[in-house]
Amino acid sequence: MREKRILVTGASRGIGKATAFALLEAGHQVILHARSRESLAPAYAEATGRFGARAAEEIADLSDLAQVESMCRRLEADGRGLDVLVNNAGMVTHELGYSAQGIEIQFAVNHLAGFYLANRLLPLLAAATSKPASATGDQATDGLRAPGRILQVSSIAHGFIKEVDFAVSEVGNLATKRTDPYDHRYHYYRSKLANVLFVTEWARRIPSAHVTANALHPGIVRTRLSKAYMKNPVFRFFEAMIATTPEKACATSVHLAGDDSVEGITGAFFKASEGAPIKGLGTDEALAGQLWETSLSCLPSEMREQLAQARATYKRTTGASDEGKGAGNA
Ligand SMILES: NC(=O)c1ccc[n+]([C@@H]2O[C@H](COP(=O)([O-])OP(=O)(O)OC[C@H]3O[C@@H](n4cnc5c(N)ncnc54)[C@H](OP(=O)(O)O)[C@@H]3O)[C@@H](O)[C@H]2O)c1
Repeated sequence: MREKRILVTGASRGIGKATAFALLEAGHQVILHARSRESLAPAYAEATGRFGARAAEEIADLSDLAQVESMCRRLEADGRGLDVLVNNAGMVTHELGYSAQGIEIQFAVNHLAGFYLANRLLPLLAAATSKPASATGDQATDGLRAPGRILQVSSIAHGFIKEVDFAVSEVGNLATKRTDPYDHRYHYYRSKLANVLFVTEWARRIPSAHVTANALHPGIVRTRLSKAYMKNPVFRFFEAMIATTPEKACATSVHLAGDDSVEGITGAFFKASEGAPIKGLGTDEALAGQLWETSLSCLPSEMREQLAQARATYKRTTGASDEGKGAGNA
């Protein structure tokens, strides 16, 4: 196994924390991310206590893309590269709310922040393929390092949504057009559908030799998020009976982040560490394209510019062309 440097978003608790600890246990370097220093403090103290300098921390509120951009700059500046991005952080709310950029909050935190991170960190993730392993401190010295990896912690709930239009207005100021009053389930399912469509479109745009992207379902897991999802105590009781622990549920993320057997696989969905079918609207390639364009349109112009620069750096360093698969602007 080659030691990888891995960013796990939402590593203060739940599945993300379990994923980060399992990856540290396996010998990787892990950057644990959370919304605030206070929320990350217990997990980070435990991680550094057990694994020393292999654990690092990053703070950014994903509902504010300016904070996400600052985090990307710090990661670029530290010069230590990045092999894997685990877009794990997620939330559920019963109240309509908006991100700092005016986007419906579940779409913003569960999809848009990860979309931005992936595209902004593309040069770092792809640099893995353009530098010899020996030059980066990897044990293996036989050629180029493995492709970068992106994981989208989605859900089987991506298949529950029957109707969606990823028009900018519907993820922004007309967020309740389809469900008024605000239906937390619709918006959560929509964000998890976006996680799956993202990997379809990523695989169309970015060659698997550079950076792969795959989505996964972790299972039904006892966490703060699942408690917040179920308001009804009776449903909550039954859900708790079938739910698993974060320590068991992180297995698919750990497999996809570190295992050599999945190298080169892109645009796929996984459950229990096995490939699984993408359901319903998740198979709609035109919708995946619309989502990508909408996600770009949701960004302030200076952030679209950051992504365009990231794309140019990626092309320069990898020699990626505008032709066929892997085409398109960020
Ligand atoms: N639990 C399940 O049954 C289940 C099922 C299917 C899929 N999933 C998916 O699994 C992923 C992890 O969920 P979980 O159940 O482990 O939830 P959790 O225990 O509530 O953990 C959520 C993590 O996301 C972070 N986060 C939330 N909002 C954030 C924001 N605005 N900025 C930065 N970080 C933020 C939290 O950080 P703070 O502590 O700083 O708030 C926390 O670390 C989610 O993507 C979820 O959709 C969960």
